[in-house]
Amino acid sequence: MQSLDVAPVSAQGPTRPGWWDALREPIQRRLDGWFSDPALYRWAIANPLTRWVTRRRTAKLFELMAGFVHSQVLLSCVRLGLFARLKEQPLTLDALARHTQIEPPAMQRLLLSAVALGLLEHRSMGRFGLGPLGAPLARQDGIAAMIEHNNLLYQDLLQPVEFLRDAWGGSMAGYWPYAHGKMPGVPGAAQPAGSGLEPVARYSELMASSQNFVLQEILSSYALAGHRRLMDVGGGKGRFISAVARQYPALELTLFDLPPVLEVARSALHTAGLDGRVRLHPGSFLTDALPGGADVITLIRVAHDHCDASVRDILRNIYQALPKGGTLLVAEPMAQSAGERPQPSDAYFHYYLLAMGAGRLRSHEELAALMRDSGFAAVTLLDNAMPIHARILVGTKI
Ligand SMILES: C[S@@+](CC[C@H](N)C(=O)[O-])C[C@H]1O[C@@H](n2cnc3c(N)ncnc32)[C@H](O)[C@@H]1O
Repeated sequence: MQSLDVAPVSAQGPTRPGWWDALREPIQRRLDGWFSDPALYRWAIANPLTRWVTRRRTAKLFELMAGFVHSQVLLSCVRLGLFARLKEQPLTLDALARHTQIEPPAMQRLLLSAVALGLLEHRSMGRFGLGPLGAPLARQDGIAAMIEHNNLLYQDLLQPVEFLRDAWGGSMAGYWPYAHGKMPGVPGAAQPAGSGLEPVARYSELMASSQNFVLQEILSSYALAGHRRLMDVGGGKGRFISAVARQYPALELTLFDLPPVLEVARSALHTAGLDGRVRLHPGSFLTDALPGGADVITLIRVAHDHCDASVRDILRNIYQALPKGGTLLVAEPMAQSAGERPQPSDAYFHYYLLAMGAGRLRSHEELAALMRDSGFAAVTLLDNAMPIHARILVGTKI
């Protein structure tokens, strides 16, 4: 069983108060008093110069309260297949009610809510079509799979304070057996009760379907052309390595993951017509030495699943496996740095990883420090277009 770490205070900002904090603290206390004062609220909305600030804050607070409803509207649209259906053609309320067997009054409320959220749009003659946020969902199955998967998290969060006291008792923890030292089909590991290899196939499929976004970020930010052999560590069923195989036909490829995952990978690579193109190396990066020979190793959405001690072990293992001058590329969602404004997506990942029961969301500085501690030099954060999917660090073995 892995332990859960507490992020060091330094990851959240300076550890000692500076002259600016001494100046700011009394002002902040006064502002806190003002912002919670109902009289000031009434004054601020009456005043045209301050009204917009108050309106914006109130709307944001309302959105926080309504967030659960928003996510259920989204999930309902996915489960009812509305995006796929409306991609074919815009439809009326009655047609949609008939297709989904939901009474028109309830269906209308779902459709109007989806319009309000930008998922759908009104079209002529009372029809509904795809909205700007719904259109990508009609094409990308990976997004729908993640939305459906999040339902596990919502179930775990139904009693939010109890969740904080016992986050690992829920459905999400059961979804990720390796986070709790259990792994079906791995000799010596504890086995989840009566499930066979199904949990492995299930999480590997989810990861593969959400990998498209991540691999686009990596392959458009880092050129692998200068490398000879790549090993993807914790590479799942091989979605990333399959994309690399197509883009870089001369690159030799190795996939490393737990034995049952590589069984799933073997048939996925066969289906993709990549038999013999990727060497499969089963093992545990926590207990087995990684095979040598690769001059670039990728670690994608793996570190955040593990406590600091395990991440150090994995990074040292990778360091040992690389030749001098070899490259490690780490890609995963990362927290905003100390001093940057935290993003709402950070809240999602903090909670997801807590429910999973292992690891934590780290900032790029924290991950870079772990890489440097393991011997990597010239650790650099790459600039990528969509950091919500992943941020990317590269480092070199010297
Ligand atoms: C969150 S998934 C990410 C998969 C893939 N890299 C991606 O981004 O789609 C983490 C991967 O690490 C693998 N993993 C977990 N513990 C492992 C271990 N001890 N040794 C090797 N692989 C492990 C899992 O089987 C899984 O495929």
